[in-house]
Amino acid sequence: MNPTAVTQSYFNQLDARIRGARAQSDELFEIVRPEALYDRPIPERHRIIFYLGHLEAFDWNLLLGPLGLASFDPDFDKLFAFGIDPVEGGLPDDQPKDWPSLEKVQRYNAQLRKTLDDTLRTSAAKDPGLGHLENGRLLDVAIEHRLMHAETLCYMLHQLPVERKFGRPLVSTSLAPPHVPRTVEIPAGIATLGMPRVENGPFGWDNEFEESRVEVPAFAIDAYNVTNQEYLRFVLEGGYRERSLWTDAGWECISSQGRSHPIFWVRQGDSWACRTMFEKVPLPLDWPVYVSHDEASAYARWIGKELPSEAEWHRAACATRDGCERVFPWGAEEPQSRFGNFDLQRWDPTPVGSFPDGSSDFGVADLVGNGWEWTRTPFAPFPGFEPFSFYPGYSANFFDGKHFVMKGGSPRTAACMLRRSFRNWFQPHYPYVYATFRCVKR
Ligand SMILES: [Fe+2]
Repeated sequence: MNPTAVTQSYFNQLDARIRGARAQSDELFEIVRPEALYDRPIPERHRIIFYLGHLEAFDWNLLLGPLGLASFDPDFDKLFAFGIDPVEGGLPDDQPKDWPSLEKVQRYNAQLRKTLDDTLRTSAAKDPGLGHLENGRLLDVAIEHRLMHAETLCYMLHQLPVERKFGRPLVSTSLAPPHVPRTVEIPAGIATLGMPRVENGPFGWDNEFEESRVEVPAFAIDAYNVTNQEYLRFVLEGGYRERSLWTDAGWECISSQGRSHPIFWVRQGDSWACRTMFEKVPLPLDWPVYVSHDEASAYARWIGKELPSEAEWHRAACATRDGCERVFPWGAEEPQSRFGNFDLQRWDPTPVGSFPDGSSDFGVADLVGNGWEWTRTPFAPFPGFEPFSFYPGYSANFFDGKHFVMKGGSPRTAACMLRRSFRNWFQPHYPYVYATFRCVKR
């Protein structure tokens, strides 16, 4: 085959993925009623309007140099450059009036997209191997950055009151057979974390390299995520009042905020409801509970277990009974809807165990999709880590012992980020993530 045709189709694929990712993020902003665009649904984060500019400014700031472009609005490029993740508890105090008008942001976005698209197309025609874009890697960065925000924006819009957003149709799920909680024994063996750095190899973020093989002793792991029903027992039996179950920082956090249950739950007299993306429903008892790392760890301590390490999650997800390792828990096939609740099919969780086709060889369910899974592993580099020269702070800024690794994926995680080397991370007190957990016993 003509090599130019191969590389041109490589650009065409990336171009189609850029458009797909833009459609996803554009659709999210359409959920927000215009009067809510300057709201700040999560106190630790920027106002919604920031993200409208940020998704485009990020692409622009990343590609401006390599494409030889000149800035047409340096102030906006800077204003929309970075999100925030305050680790010392400080909260932003900017006001809506500190931000530009919607019309100005939309104009900036439109001009930026048009300039980028025109230049990308011309430059790809001249250099179909995309050598000027790190062999296309910069476009992967732009695509996955946008898709990650499409997910974290959902966490944010989830916290926006229902009357401040437009509803969307919900996708039904066929009823899962009732699950019976059980544990699965995983024998000692090797977990392969990360991936090898290979010239023109598959895309991964800096923290996914290099490959790291870890020996993992035998352990037993819950076959299913902890459900709302199981977690309700912890709540009702005083878990949030028992100091010994919490770390110092975790206790300080729930005490100072007066927290006594997961942030997605609402107490209604003697009963409980759950705030889904677009409505309030009676607490679905068979859904995985979404909680912070602090809350997950306290539950695990209460029940005499602990959270899995990152390597244990890998063993449960990818190890096989004949001593090999799979690409995904279900095997080598690319992610499809029958394997799990992921890739933006739904806005909310499904009952645990709804996708038996997606279980691992050891019979552990829902390891990918339906909620990220907290691990007890602090986010740290693998041996051989090198930051991206064009985005040095992406991971390195968070190797501070104050963030924990999450694995798997949520209903709003795009399929491309379900690869087993992908690592997500958040601070332990942060309660807004679509993150659940399961426990292990060693
Ligand atoms: Fe960002």
